[in-house]
Amino acid sequence: MQDNVLLIERKDQFYILTINRPDALNALNNDVFHALDTFFTRLYKDYTIKGIVITGSGSKAFVAGADIKEFASLDETQGRMLSKKGQDILFKIERFHVPVIAAVNGFALGGGCELAMACHMRVAGNHAKFGQPEVNLGLVPGYGGSQRLIQLIGKGRALELLLTADMIDATTAHQSGLVNHMVEPGQEVNKSLEILSKIATKGPLAVSQCIGLVNAYYDKDVDGFEQEYNDFGSTLGSEDAKEGARAFVEKRKPEFKAQ
Ligand code: CAA
Repeated sequence: MQDNVLLIERKDQFYILTINRPDALNALNNDVFHALDTFFTRLYKDYTIKGIVITGSGSKAFVAGADIKEFASLDETQGRMLSKKGQDILFKIERFHVPVIAAVNGFALGGGCELAMACHMRVAGNHAKFGQPEVNLGLVPGYGGSQRLIQLIGKGRALELLLTADMIDATTAHQSGLVNHMVEPGQEVNKSLEILSKIATKGPLAVSQCIGLVNAYYDKDVDGFEQEYNDFGSTLGSEDAKEGARAFVEKRKPEFKAQ
């Protein structure tokens, strides 16, 4: 196992995760996935943290894809397992209870674009480039890209990116809805922390349930409207909602406790 493939920095109530394989443009190998899985499993439902930023080491790439050099020796069964494992880890990120923002500081290709799309929002440097170039390798995306790309940019645009393997620049990604905010290179993490700081002042249980409700829309086994009235009831009955109402009446900032 390679050390330090994922740098973990705590900053106040937030964590900044840096995928750290600059010589391979931060390609996602087994060690990176293991480190991401361990981190997101360990901190699930920890309300002392308010948000996570994921970025890439250096200024050239966020993540240039799955590690192509790990593919060569794999057969069909191993390929299926690799894809399923990657999907499961990205689901953990998508379903995480606090917001996770991808600070896209360069190439976000293949598995890198898929990782960014599994995050709740994307902040891109204006030099960033996005794409799903798997067909160049005779492959389809393996970490949920064929599904999340449609959710974010629509069927026609998703098919064009998937079939041509073209890269799009940050401006096009922003106009398509793939990117929430575009910033100067080097400002991706700061802008992400600014967004997280605003969210950190809100009711933590409500924030978590909003993430779950948006995910519910895309889950064929879940009725999002039913989940909404149940979540509305449980937030309404929470201590935080009482504090929120009290603070409104007393014209002060609420002090939420995730209870
Ligand atoms: N896997 C492994 N190594 C990678 C990599 C990847 N995805 N992307 C880049 N690297 C390595 C290169 O091999 C090179 O290493 P060496 O110096 O040892 O040769 C180093 O990173 C620098 O890359 P380049 O010399 O290629 O840099 P460049 O500036 O000329 O090009 C690039 C940059 C356009 C991003 C190019 O590196 C590239 O096309 N990378 C591959 C992108 C790709 O196809 N991604 C999809 C992977 S498949 C996938 O992700 C499947 C899935 O959904 C699960």
